Amino acid sequence: MCNSNIMQTPTIIHLPEILDKRGSLSFFENFNQIPFEIARTYWIYDVPGGETRGGHAFKTQQEFIIALSGSFDIILHDGKNETKFSMNRSYYGLHVPAMYWRRMENFSTNSLALIVSDKAYYADDYIRDFDEFKKTRNG
Ligand code: TYD
Repeated sequence: MCNSNIMQTPTIIHLPEILDKRGSLSFFENFNQIPFEIARTYWIYDVPGGETRGGHAFKTQQEFIIALSGSFDIILHDGKNETKFSMNRSYYGLHVPAMYWRRMENFSTNSLALIVSDKAYYADDYIRDFDEFKKTRNG
């Protein structure tokens, strides 16, 4: 069984693609395609051009993020370096372990971001101050 303590590196996961003349289908399941058990699902939509979402880190929760429709960038900071992941296919998702500063930007018109998390919503799990994040992350 995987958890955030084992899988610490952000990873793009290629989901199954069931191709069919009638249309394509992809899926993910707890502990099969994604390394945790889903406790919560939310989605981000109707993002106005130029807006940024999610300038924060989570102390404990991990997430899996898919561009179900359209495209956007996920920028992750590990306390030292920043990496950009361009999401634009509904069969690729990004696993974001706990303790990465993440922001999402460059949303295309009508894009739809699906996010699943291993924890229920808990405001105290957020770190919203970048300096505090860097201090905590870098010890
Ligand atoms: P937030 O996570 O700060 O959004 P973003 O990271 O995209 O900027 O959430 C925005 C608001 O929505 C915040 O007031 C908390 C609320 N919220 C919930 O009530 N439940 C949830 O599962 C999420 C993700 C947010």
